[in-house]
Amino acid sequence: MANVLVVSTSKGGTGKTTLGVSLAAYWRDQGKRVSILDTDPNEAMTRWAGKSQTGFQGIEVRSSSNEHDIIENVQQLGANADLVVVDTAGFGNQSMIYAVGIADLVLVPVMADEASLFEAAKMKRVIDSASALTRRDINFRTVLNRVKRTTTVVRHTERNLEQLGLRPTATRIGDRVIFQEASYHGETPLSLMPGNRAALEIRNLARELEPELFI
Ligand SMILES: Nc1ncnc2c1ncn2[C@@H]1O[C@H](COP(=O)(O)OP(=O)(O)O)[C@@H](O)[C@H]1O
Ligand SMILES: [Mg+2]
Repeated sequence: MANVLVVSTSKGGTGKTTLGVSLAAYWRDQGKRVSILDTDPNEAMTRWAGKSQTGFQGIEVRSSSNEHDIIENVQQLGANADLVVVDTAGFGNQSMIYAVGIADLVLVPVMADEASLFEAAKMKRVIDSASALTRRDINFRTVLNRVKRTTTVVRHTERNLEQLGLRPTATRIGDRVIFQEASYHGETPLSLMPGNRAALEIRNLARELEPELFI
């Protein structure tokens, strides 16, 4: 069975889809067999993939926002993959609970503002509940995304994440236009501009998550 990375938070617009696609493409490039399950009814991930020439090559993308099909879809995709990346909607719903329940690792993108921090703390409670339901510890990490500069507010958010036990990664993802460009082209920063800082940060994030995913 494949490893399952669920990118989730009940806050919309924090970068779930963006980071999910970018990480999936990175591990595909590393020779892993990667599939994506898009559980967001808005299907942002599926539309992104639909525009693709090379960005999603070799990655099977399936869309299913019916919560009762999520676990089955993950299992089906996982039968032929090393990794299944699950993208979730920007609001708490039953799909999110099922996805978190089957996760090996939950990645929670957080922006440096109060609302994102609040939602990340809420997400931790969702993960704790899913852990209790499934009687296992579900691993999770938060990652600061859309960081403009290392300002006091970024450090403040990071300190809060640590104090709340939300385990921020050492890698922060900067606010970079290349992510937005990539989404129009069905690409990722790795395929569009491999030398760009965005691509470097994605590689760093992926490497940091690897020990928690590929045991
Ligand atoms: N690191 C980043 N730098 C610049 N823009 C970003 C970054 N991450 C996400 N975005 C942009 O922010 C918006 C929301 O991102 P998205 O991945 O769709 O969030 P979510 O899936 O959590 O709703 C999109 O327009 C996306 O291009
Ligand atoms: Mg999304």
